[in-house]
Amino acid sequence: MRKIIFATGNEGKMREIREIFKGTPYEVLSMKEAGISADIVEDGTSFEENALIKARAVAKLSGEIAMADDSGLVVDFLGGAPGIYSARFLGEDTSYEIKNQYILDQLKGVLPSGRTARFVCAIAVVFPDGESGVRVATVEGRIADAPAGDNGFGYDPIFYVPEFGLTTAQLSMEQKNKISHRAKALEAVKREVLCAGTDV
Ligand code: IMP
Repeated sequence: MRKIIFATGNEGKMREIREIFKGTPYEVLSMKEAGISADIVEDGTSFEENALIKARAVAKLSGEIAMADDSGLVVDFLGGAPGIYSARFLGEDTSYEIKNQYILDQLKGVLPSGRTARFVCAIAVVFPDGESGVRVATVEGRIADAPAGDNGFGYDPIFYVPEFGLTTAQLSMEQKNKISHRAKALEAVKREVLCAGTDV
């Protein structure tokens, strides 16, 4: 088994990643499990750049293969905001109830066709020799008229997926993991970067 260190402290993400990497020749460890801690400044200008910055830092610190993600919500009517600033939008400590209500207020009266939005996720892999690969995936939807649902986290209550007729906070974890930006980007990295040329 080859080790991959995933640059996150989020247990939920680790569970999702482990599930996707089951049956591959890779064992995915969190930074904590690998005994690594780092305060990485995410000063890139895109999801791809930020994911690469994090993965590069962890590959350098650990000498192992490192993987990192960067994700967020892109709202077309708001010129792409909150985008790469999704976690910091209106302040890191501001509740998502407030962040979500702010977005709903900004879009008040906007017709469904003008409410298009997407969750974006970039996953970067950096090898100990510095070689790297990044994959980006999205899930397309619309900003709902009002928050709905208690599952998920962050912007899920206001992200409406027409395909389901529900917000991502109303989907089960299984349903969301099937369509999620993170799952799709992880699958692409697994197939095209880490396991290219194998049957996995
Ligand atoms: P990070 O990539 O973990 O830093 O996440 C960035 C931010 O994007 C999160 O804090 C959430 O605000 C938002 N975000 C990313 N993915 C999702 C999702 O699947 N649902 C809801 N919010 C998300």
